[in-house]
Parts: sequence; C-alpha cells; structure tokens
Amino acid sequence: MTASTDARTAPSSTDAREPPGPNGLPVIGNLHRYVRDPLSFIERCAREYGDVVYTNVGPMESYMVSHPSHIERILVSESDRFRNAELGQGRLEPLFGNGLVVSEGEHWRRQRIRMQPAFRPDRIAAYAEIMRAEAIRVTDRWSPGETIRLDDEFRRLSLRILVRSLFGTDLDDREDEILEAFRTTTDRFEGANTWLPGWLPTPANRRFERGRQRLDEIVYELIDRRRDDAASRDDLLSALLTAEDDCGERMSDRAIRDEVVTLLAAGHDTTALALTYAVHLLGTRPSAAERLAAELESVLDGEAPTMADLDRLPYTEAAVSEALRYYPPTHATAREPVEDVTVDGYRLPKGATVFLPQWVVHRDERWWDDPETYHPERWLDDSDRPEYAYFPFGGGPRHCIGHRFALVEARIVLATIASRWRLEPTDETLSVRPAITLRPTEPVEAVVRERTR
Ligand code: HEM
Repeated sequence: MTASTDARTAPSSTDAREPPGPNGLPVIGNLHRYVRDPLSFIERCAREYGDVVYTNVGPMESYMVSHPSHIERILVSESDRFRNAELGQGRLEPLFGNGLVVSEGEHWRRQRIRMQPAFRPDRIAAYAEIMRAEAIRVTDRWSPGETIRLDDEFRRLSLRILVRSLFGTDLDDREDEILEAFRTTTDRFEGANTWLPGWLPTPANRRFERGRQRLDEIVYELIDRRRDDAASRDDLLSALLTAEDDCGERMSDRAIRDEVVTLLAAGHDTTALALTYAVHLLGTRPSAAERLAAELESVLDGEAPTMADLDRLPYTEAAVSEALRYYPPTHATAREPVEDVTVDGYRLPKGATVFLPQWVVHRDERWWDDPETYHPERWLDDSDRPEYAYFPFGGGPRHCIGHRFALVEARIVLATIASRWRLEPTDETLSVRPAITLRPTEPVEAVVRERTR
C-alpha cells in the first residue's frame, strides 16, 4: 500500500474516489454489524478493503484509516486539516464539558499550555515518589492465596495516584463514589447506547445523569476547599484556580470542573487498564514473567523501584510497551476533516468521522511478527517499522498530555508488584470490548502467589 502523494497545497484532488467498504442498510449503514462485534468488524474492514475504508456505521459518514503513514499525516503533519471528531465531542461533551479532551482552537491551546508544566519531567519525578508509596501500600495489603480483582485494584490505585499527584490532596473517602460515578457514566458510551440521543429516558441515560451529578458535587467541593490556599500551593488544581488570561480574568468554576473531570477520567481508567492487561498477559506467559522477575531481582534486589531505577529496567519497559500494543486502552482515535482531504487517492469528506484504529494497526502483520502473541522481547531489538505502527498515546499536537505520567506509573507499579508477588490469572482467556476505552468483558482476577527467589 503506498502513501498518499497528493500535494499539501491541493486540498483534495478532483478525481479522488470513494473508498471501498461493506455495503450497509439504509439509514443505519453497518451499525448492526458493528454493534454485534465491533473489533471483528473493524478487523474485517481492514482485511477486506485495505487502508482506507468507508465503514458507514450509524447515522454519520464514517471512515477508517489504518496505514501508519496516513495516520501520521492526519495526526501530525496535516493536523490543521482535521479537528476532533464531532461524534467524539457530541458523545463526550455532557461529561467532560469543554475540558482538554473536547475543546478546540484558542481555548484548547491556552488550556494545554496552562496544564503542560504539571507534566514536565521534573514534576513526574516528584509524582514517582507518590506512585511508589501507593504501589507499596497496595501490595502490602495482599496475602498469599488471596484472589484479587486486577481491574478494580488498579482503577483505585491509579485514581489515588492521580488525585494526590495532580490535585495535591486525597479523596480516599470519596473513592467508591467516584469510581461508581465513572462506571455508570461510561456505560452510555457502549454498544447501541452510543448512538441513542442523550435526552431519551433510557436506563443508561438516567444512570449517566446521576453519575454526572455525583461527579459534579465532588469536584465542586474539591474546588471550593482549595480556593483559599491555592496561591500558596504548586499542584495542577491550584494552578488552574490561580491562572489568569491576558485580561486578568480567572477561569470560571465550570471551566475548572471540566478540566478536573477530564483529567480524572482520561488519567485513571487508561492507566489502570494498561496495568490490568500487563499483569494478566505476564500471567499467561510464564517465560516473560520470569525474565521480568530476574531483571527486577538483579536491579532492585527486592526493593520497590524509584524513578532513578527505571532506566535500568528495560524489560519492565518492554512488558508495558507490549501490553499497550496488545490491548491499547484507547482502541481508536477519531478525527474530522475540516475540508475535503485526499488520502491514498480516496476522498475523506469534510465533516465525516475518520477512525484511526490502534486496535487494527497494532496487530497488522506488515509491521508486527506474530502480532497475536504477547512478546515483550520484540521491544528490545531495534526495528525499522514505521513510527505510527504504534501510537497508544495518539500523536501530533493533541497527543496524550499524560503519556509520561502513565508510563512512569505503569513501570513503577508493575515493578513493585512483580518484585514481590507472582499474580496467577484465574482464567487465562480474556475478552475485551470497546467503550470509551477498551474494557475487559468480565472481571479480571488473579491469585496472589509468593515469588520464589
Ligand atoms: C496508558 C495510559 C493512557 C493512554 C493509553 C492514553 C491515551 C490517550 C490518547 C490516545 C490520547 C489522544 C486522543 C486524541 O488524539 O484524540 C490522549 C489524550 C489525552 N490524555 Fe491520555 N492516555 C493515558 C493516560 C493519561 C493520563 C495519565 C492522563 C492525565 C493524567 C491523560 C490525559 C489526557 C488528556 C487530558 C488528553 C487530551 C489531550 C489534548 O487533546 O490536548 N492520559 N490520551
């Protein structure tokens, strides 16, 4: 498959064709096929129709682009020809408001610049202490023979790390409520619920509304409590409270709420999933788990890692990278062309939704040997695969603001666990389904075993 050759200055060639794709039904297109088994549907589209497909799912025009060089164009080199997909915003706006994941233009740029300092390497190094302490606290609680729910444990742990690091406080007494509120609000983004209008009084919409109200209550309380001493503190929440624009105006409570809810949602669930999948996959590949344990033994000698240790733990890093390839928590990124764009000779019309599916690209045999195998070793050799054959954190101006945070957290937590315990899956099979993030369909459990040295 060749990369598109249309000139940057020619917005769309007049003879650009409609991409191939599966025929759909009137109005709903291929929605019924997508809802039945979304991941198989997109895999089949790529296999049968190629790198640019008219997927035609649901009421809007939808396309899928799955060649790394096209993905690079859309996310990076020609990112100004695309905006966040309307679909994504329409779906996410009731929860995230105008927070960083949703906002566009000048507001997005200003907020991104305001928040960026909280994600600089020196700050991440300070958060690493919190990550280490919280990981030790969790692993201290476990006892041999106990069965734990990995997805729950990691969601709680990631939330606690995020709140302490970015907001300089703890919400331990509200953790259950926050996790429950996110669980219920995100139901709305699954399967057929995704396509139903928010005003319909469906059970998922009612649960969404209750969850959103609960989150609002907790976050506005947090903002209120911080207001008085924000000026003397240096965490991200205080920075948002004290930031002024060019006219000396402060952000409204509503705007701060939108950023806090966005960070809570975007930051805890994704990292928790990365950890859940990494631990599960290692449990199903004893040779990888042993190699990881050997690395930790030789470098850490039974201690939990500090930030300074991470550079000496290449296999730990490979185990995390490979989990993010195998089960990318963000299974697809979406964009919308702001003008007609030609990719590989095919027209992507202005206003359509264009999906860039990590799930498909990360398993494409053109870039990955034996893609269905969890194989951390592949990350230890240099490879000449294209850069955007792997993009768990997106790319370009809107790449994940928390990617460094997430990678440090995942490595510290994984190393803390694996240097002390061996987690044995109760069931080696794991199936996943796409919602806002890629979720396990069933609880993911493991038995805690003492690690024999
Ligand atoms: C393994 C963990 C994570 C994964 C896989 C992940 C993935 C992603 C991806 C793919 C995007 C780009 C979406 C797009 O281009 O449309 C993104 C954006 C974002 N992520 Fe993450 N993320 C992770 C962790 C985090 C953490 C820890 C935080 C915050 C502490 C965070 C906050 C955000 C925010 C605010 C955005 C929007 C950035 C913008 O549009 O300017 N993420 N993430």
